[in-house]
Amino acid sequence: MAVMETRKLGPFDVSPIGLGAMPFSMGANERPSREQAIATVHAALDAGVTYIDTADIYAPSWDTIGHNEEIIAAALKSYGDTSDIVVGTKGGITRSEGEVWGRDGSASYIRGAVEASLRALDTDVIDLYQWHRPDRWLVYGEVLETFKALQQEGKVRAIGISNANVEEIEVALQVLGEDGLASVQNEFSPRFRLSRDELELCGQHQVAFLPWSPLGGTGAKSKDVGQAYPAFHKISENRQVSQQRVVLAWELALGDHVIPIPGASRPASITDSAQAVSLALTPQELELIETQFC
Ligand SMILES: NC(=O)c1ccc[n+]([C@@H]2O[C@H](COP(=O)([O-])OP(=O)(O)OC[C@H]3O[C@@H](n4cnc5c(N)ncnc54)[C@H](OP(=O)(O)O)[C@@H]3O)[C@@H](O)[C@H]2O)c1
Repeated sequence: MAVMETRKLGPFDVSPIGLGAMPFSMGANERPSREQAIATVHAALDAGVTYIDTADIYAPSWDTIGHNEEIIAAALKSYGDTSDIVVGTKGGITRSEGEVWGRDGSASYIRGAVEASLRALDTDVIDLYQWHRPDRWLVYGEVLETFKALQQEGKVRAIGISNANVEEIEVALQVLGEDGLASVQNEFSPRFRLSRDELELCGQHQVAFLPWSPLGGTGAKSKDVGQAYPAFHKISENRQVSQQRVVLAWELALGDHVIPIPGASRPASITDSAQAVSLALTPQELELIETQFC
């Protein structure tokens, strides 16, 4: 297993690039076989990746909730020593019969979701439990009290939030305390840069910021990112590395608290993405990237 420098994710030290496991279960592309998904996790671990991101609802259908978590559990079990691997899962989005999607931040729902994730991940404690999306019918800070209680009861080690705005991050910092909020996971990529304020706020509070869909999402956008944003294409040609690696290196350069979680359904993708950690972009390259957005 390759060894990488690490970044802080709450109480954990993890690789600066994580593995986004969602494509094993859903997304724009064809779903990989279980064998290929497990091989992709193993390739990530071989490359030195020590953070894996999943969610209860990452599943092919509403009645297979936990699909993604179960694959990760099986992959870790068949790998050898995984004591330094951190798995983050999420709860708070509902999927029910007929593929009806919703949100539920009630204590009874979140508690049930945590128990289901513990079973699917085949563990006694969840490393990082993230509130997947706000439930706008409830008071944000009150929902987080449930997460805090679950941590005090030893069901989860660290707490994260996802799809949160500046105000919600500030509430989370108040409810959980400055050291109590481990991470914020928001969409961030070349084509989606609207969460830059949240990224910067996290940096000020030493909270890890996990860009989701850091390459633009499954499907064509992540494959031809340099077409829409030529600076990535130019730098990738000069450096003889993939455009995806350049995108991830740019995100890593935005702050020591940034931990992108590129999705992969193939071992080659995550093996390549993990190498972004050793691609130090020059100030001129970073300027070229930023000016293309103006
Ligand atoms: N919190 C939330 O609400 C939320 C929402 C969406 C996603 N997420 C998380 O974010 C993770 C990542 O997002 P995502 O999977 O939607 O999109 P993404 O990371 O932007 O893109 C994934 C796609 O990029 C391709 N790819 C990755 N590395 C590559 C490389 N080095 N070279 C070429 N292609 C590469 C993958 O290809 P292959 O499939 O061919 O390997 C996959 O199709 C998810 O897995 C999930 O954990 C969270």
